[in-house]
Amino acid sequence: MKLERLAPVITSLEPSNHPYLNGAWTPLHEEVNVDDLDVIEGAVPLDIDGLYLRNTENQVHQPLGRFHPFDGDGMVHQIDFHGGRASYRNRFVRTRGFEAEQEAQGSLWGGLADPVALARRPGYGAHGALKDSSSTDIVVHAGKALSTFYQCGEGYRLDPLTLEPLGIESWTPIDGISAHPKVDEATGEMMFFNYSKYPPYMHYGVVDRTNKLVTYIPVPLPGPRLPHDMAFSANYSILNDLPVFWDQELLKRNIHAVRLHEGIPSRFAIVPRHGSAQDIRWFEAAPTYVLHWLNAYEDGDEVVLDGYFQEDPMPRPHKNAPAGFEHMMAYLDEHSFRSKLHRWRFNLKTGKTSEAHLDDRVMEFGMFNQRYAGRKYRYVYSTTSKPGWFLFTGFVKNDLETGESWSFDLPEGVYASEAPFAPRIGARDEDDGYLVSFLMDENTGRSECVLIDAKRIQDGPVCRIALPHKLCSGTHSCWADRSQLSAG
Ligand SMILES: [Fe+2]
Repeated sequence: MKLERLAPVITSLEPSNHPYLNGAWTPLHEEVNVDDLDVIEGAVPLDIDGLYLRNTENQVHQPLGRFHPFDGDGMVHQIDFHGGRASYRNRFVRTRGFEAEQEAQGSLWGGLADPVALARRPGYGAHGALKDSSSTDIVVHAGKALSTFYQCGEGYRLDPLTLEPLGIESWTPIDGISAHPKVDEATGEMMFFNYSKYPPYMHYGVVDRTNKLVTYIPVPLPGPRLPHDMAFSANYSILNDLPVFWDQELLKRNIHAVRLHEGIPSRFAIVPRHGSAQDIRWFEAAPTYVLHWLNAYEDGDEVVLDGYFQEDPMPRPHKNAPAGFEHMMAYLDEHSFRSKLHRWRFNLKTGKTSEAHLDDRVMEFGMFNQRYAGRKYRYVYSTTSKPGWFLFTGFVKNDLETGESWSFDLPEGVYASEAPFAPRIGARDEDDGYLVSFLMDENTGRSECVLIDAKRIQDGPVCRIALPHKLCSGTHSCWADRSQLSAG
């Protein structure tokens, strides 16, 4: 193992008892390059060739108010598998906000849980008073990595191999890009959306495989909404207008309070991939909130969409949380929301929706083989979480054809990150590959990367690779085969 440390970033963060600034959520500030990582168990497989990229929130400065874990500065972690060896590197996303706070040597913006008046500079995104941390999601499109922010920030491009910054994406619209742009590996296109407080409140776009914005259309909504994710089938993109959004009366006073609006259904916009606003068809469904979708595909007259249906999108504050964190902790707990694997079917002929749970366990942050994106698929890999916490404790594989499922639980005190599917070289079956995840081990204070054979997830990791420092828990990740790095 050869380790190179970069010059440290300036940090003003002080110790605290914040539940999401300690333990597996302790921010990491160190940036390193490591060649030839040490293997703890098994061997680095020769039959994968590509990158696992993961974005995390790592708070650099002392918060101005009450820190929320989605406020932390974006950091991209990359592990590169090639020829039976693995290397690792990590870098902060050098956003405008990150650079401004490095210069100021302290926080300039409040966070999601703070009043807007805390911001010392104009903010970014739909909220308008937050720092664009580019900390939520990462995809590889047109041969480059793209990190994004859930409140609709600018698109930050990085070299996926070196993690060197390549600047702000020139086609970023004025309303920004939400987290969860979706890449269709079959065409190389990337679908995205944004949302804002101003009419038409949502837009949808497509960027082609050469990184040219080719479609950008309004998706008019009745008012400001808070969509988080989108999906696509081979011919359609699916956007959502769900009844969980900022209280409209409070918003007039610039107070951002999210609530379930009783009596309003969920609505789904189905739009041809390169369609116009006139082509949008709306479907109604049971009220809920959905943080993340899985795949979508066309089946006869129907568009099928899978995702995680929240049974309680407005959970009660957690009584047992540390004082002052009761509300925040409830809203970070999948067991509060009771998010369940769910399928919606939108009939394009009748305009009707049918829907049902596919599993009754609490799950979220699901992955599937991206080669099947937009097509009929069979396997979903979800994460399970620790009740009360935003911490991943294991994985469930669902066979959507037979209804069978398999699961793997991590040991107590060991937490995973979102685990995308890495197909084996020459794979024939949909589940011929590995789940790739970083672990945060609170028992040893260390992190590792694990590979789990997707055909037998119940057996646990087939390879464990030591990482040079303990990572912070975070949100989203992706797998990119090496062939995708030269696209565009
Ligand atoms: Fe997300």
